Amino acid sequence: MLLFVHFPPVTGPKQETEALRREIARHDRLYYGLGAPEISDLEYDRLYRRLQALEAEYPDLITPDSPTQRLGDTLSAGFAAVQHPFPMLSLQNSYNEEDLREFHRRVVTGLDGEAPEYSCELKFDGVSLLLTYENGVLTRAATRGDGQQGDDITANIRTIRGLPLRLEGPKIPGTVYVRGEVYMRTGDFLAFNEEQVAEGRKPLANPRNTVAGSLKLLDPSLVARRPLRVVCYAYDADDKSVQTHSYGLIRLSEFGLPISDQSRVVSTVDDVIAYWKEWEGKRDTLPFEIDGAVVKVNALSHQRLLGLTARAPRWALACKFSARQAQARLLDVSFQVGRTGVLTPVAELEPVPLGGVTVKRATLHNFDEIRRLDLREGDTVVLERGGDVIPKITGVVAEHRRRGAKPIVEPATCPVCGSPLERATGEVALRCTNPRDPEVIKRQIEHFVSRGALDIGGFGSETINALVDQQLITDAGDLYSLKLAQLLALPGFAQKSAENLLDALNVSKSAALDRLIFALGVRFVGESTARTLATHYGDLDLLAKAKPDELASLPDVGPRVAQAIHEYFASDVWRSLHNKLLRAGVKLHDDTPVERGDKLQGLSIVVTGTLERYSREEIERVILLQGGKSVGSVSRKTSFVVAGEKAGSKLEKALSLGVPVLSELEFDQLLAGKRKL
Ligand code: IVH
Repeated sequence: MLLFVHFPPVTGPKQETEALRREIARHDRLYYGLGAPEISDLEYDRLYRRLQALEAEYPDLITPDSPTQRLGDTLSAGFAAVQHPFPMLSLQNSYNEEDLREFHRRVVTGLDGEAPEYSCELKFDGVSLLLTYENGVLTRAATRGDGQQGDDITANIRTIRGLPLRLEGPKIPGTVYVRGEVYMRTGDFLAFNEEQVAEGRKPLANPRNTVAGSLKLLDPSLVARRPLRVVCYAYDADDKSVQTHSYGLIRLSEFGLPISDQSRVVSTVDDVIAYWKEWEGKRDTLPFEIDGAVVKVNALSHQRLLGLTARAPRWALACKFSARQAQARLLDVSFQVGRTGVLTPVAELEPVPLGGVTVKRATLHNFDEIRRLDLREGDTVVLERGGDVIPKITGVVAEHRRRGAKPIVEPATCPVCGSPLERATGEVALRCTNPRDPEVIKRQIEHFVSRGALDIGGFGSETINALVDQQLITDAGDLYSLKLAQLLALPGFAQKSAENLLDALNVSKSAALDRLIFALGVRFVGESTARTLATHYGDLDLLAKAKPDELASLPDVGPRVAQAIHEYFASDVWRSLHNKLLRAGVKLHDDTPVERGDKLQGLSIVVTGTLERYSREEIERVILLQGGKSVGSVSRKTSFVVAGEKAGSKLEKALSLGVPVLSELEFDQLLAGKRKL
């Protein structure tokens, strides 16, 4: 008889997946935390794919903290509001040495004359975050919000590979709260911005705004492509081993969380000032933006004695840096022409380094600004740069002015096309009156294809400039008659990219009406007004015929906007574009049927959560066409709230204010006259 003896394998799939997870987490930490990878990307991918393969074969072995689960399956509409376990406080600010010494005096008084130890840290210029780890596993990430309540952005934060999904190390408390900052390195931000511009989108002003925008994305797979990082700076847990803030930071790093290596414990206020000054001088040597230093009383017992105010702890202070300054000589004033013809004067400067970037140009905003500065030819100007990449001109160095230097005069004609300029009453902006100005056309087409408008990917500014300069197109309507051969003749196009562009143009022909209206670039008509117009008229030809009085009676459309809309649709620019859009088969109407009435006359309605029968646009349209107004936030004046699935803070607010809440069904019943409010 044969005996089959079952020996457990030395490493089964369970052990192997666990080992792989630990290994991948270690490499993530080496790569993102320490910037010192031990293996190549290829080797990393091999580990990752092996883990994916094992998990595909043994789905029971998948755990939420597996690196393969960073992308989860959450595609939520909006973010749920979460109540913080404790208020997420802010920091008191100080701007000079005296403020800091005053803070120190208050602390010493609060500690009955005892001088404390301080932990000095960098003040990261990003977006504040609260992480919760339960039994070692990341269960929640929330934004600060109003300090009491924030947005649940767990799905987005899980995509950040530098942040462990599971803590490691000894004696992990059951619940660990971590405060930190999401940030982006300056180099990553600049590269991201270049990509933005190449894709025909507007560049972002600074890394912080880019991070904030990234965290608001509703699709975590898009967030995963943003180079986001996290740095942790506060630990809160039931952990007897931790008696000081600085040891809390060490615990965070033992858990595998990224912390800063620039923190320093000091024992005098002079040392705090020295730390602050040192980093003010060295801030540009860091690969990320900081806007100051933070000083915290180190002993937790001292922190408890000092306590908190409603807004900020009494044991911490943000010591802000002053804006970085430089001086540069003005070489010339040039002009940028925007899509509505507005001329923006730009100072062309002798290149000067300022906070890690070389500045060659700075906007002067408008001619009033030039007069305010009393700017003259050849002047030396003072430049300031805060967190933004673009600096501001804040003054002129009077001593360096050459005698007899001529003032910068306002041009009488457009520097691009020579047409007369106008200044509308009450406006500071100078505008070129020629709708066929080539710069105006380029900017309008850029707007037409941009993301919020028809979102025709693949049209960078360079392509648009080339098409207009070569006179292949004279307005956005001509885009639809572009031929493959014409695109292939442009720099940077290959068969595939040219075909993709033509496909994208085709797709854009059936875009939603509000996007098309926004894409037209009518003065003062932003995305929200475009939505109102699309909802109300449902048809571009109807909108084009609307009288100013009628337009002005719509929500968010005042007489000035109504006049601009009316003028646009009476212009030759529209007539020509209209013909081209018609010929190309661009859809000029909305698909949803129009039913007007007064069933919601005068009511102010908030819609929240995910609805089943209506998209957000559809229900807003119904509300508007029935005489109601769809508003964004709940107040005592709200007539009622329509709440769908996953309704969050707005629903709670309505309930607390006693504002009636209707389900989608009840809303339909109200419209059908089967229910009263
Ligand atoms: S501690 C209870 N430490 O600055 C104190 N905050 O202006 C919690 N920040 O909301 C904050 N670097 O987003 C702390 N090393 C640091 C920081 C830091 C940046 C941010 C944080 C906070 C804001 C206050």
